Amino acid sequence: MTTATTTVRRGEVTIRDLSKSFTLNGRRLDVLRGIHLDVASGEALAIVGPSGCGKTTLLRVLAGLEEPDRGEVMIDGAPVHGIGRQRAVIFQEPRLLPWLTVTQNVSFGLEVRGQDRASAAEKARHYIRLVGLAGFEDAYPRQLSGGMAQRVGIARALTVQPEILLLDEPLGALDAMTKLTMQEELARIWREEGVTMILVTHDLEEAIFLADRVLVMSKSGHPPRPIEIDVPRPRDRSAPSFVALRRRLMAEFGLH
Ligand SMILES: Nc1ncnc2c1ncn2[C@@H]1O[C@H](COP(=O)(O)OP(=O)(O)OP(=O)(O)O)[C@@H](O)[C@H]1O
Ligand SMILES: [Mg+2]
Repeated sequence: MTTATTTVRRGEVTIRDLSKSFTLNGRRLDVLRGIHLDVASGEALAIVGPSGCGKTTLLRVLAGLEEPDRGEVMIDGAPVHGIGRQRAVIFQEPRLLPWLTVTQNVSFGLEVRGQDRASAAEKARHYIRLVGLAGFEDAYPRQLSGGMAQRVGIARALTVQPEILLLDEPLGALDAMTKLTMQEELARIWREEGVTMILVTHDLEEAIFLADRVLVMSKSGHPPRPIEIDVPRPRDRSAPSFVALRRRLMAEFGLH
């Protein structure tokens, strides 16, 4: 008798020879050129790079919101085209529906997928608690602060239990204090949910705080370079290894 050993892969991303260009005023703009990247199941990858280097484009291709010109995105070994249930996207603004309560905003995605209202609401309440919004289930978006609204967006994305969470500067619009708290929360949520996380950020410290690897993209078309973040968790922003990595990343962009 043979024993079948099946490896369970969940949320593993493989990018092969991925290229994407746009045409702007009749000129071709090569934004992504021959990108190769492997993201492990449950890994946290941060993407940093100068404005306009193609971070959002890469994330949109991964989300299936944009088709590449060439190359392939595979999830758990299977090529994907278009959007899919394994992936959820969190943008800079939470894009909540103003006429729905927090619970209704969070459960909406499940109801659209055919889950009955009561069980969708129960699941929504679980994720509302997870993002620290217990007590605000019946509030409307206008009654929330920016940080709270963004938490609702995160809860909404988690409720559909994606394998892969794609985030495009999710904390970019928040004030400095709220941002630090939310970074801690994101680190905890990522750990508790075991989800693969791909996060675009302008904030190098945020990248080092959250990620297993930071992918450095450049505008010159050089292939993106991944940098290992071998700092033990939970991370201390003032630890020497943390500070050294921040210095190294800043040097990548000619900053001191
Ligand atoms: N739909 C589009 N049509 C034409 N050009 C586009 C389109 N989307 C993006 N671009 C161009 O592709 C390049 C990369 O854009 P992208 O939004 O991916 O950059 P980014 O790295 O996310 O920048 P930022 O840090 O400012 O958000 C830019 O030069 C932009 O003008
Ligand atoms: Mg962008």
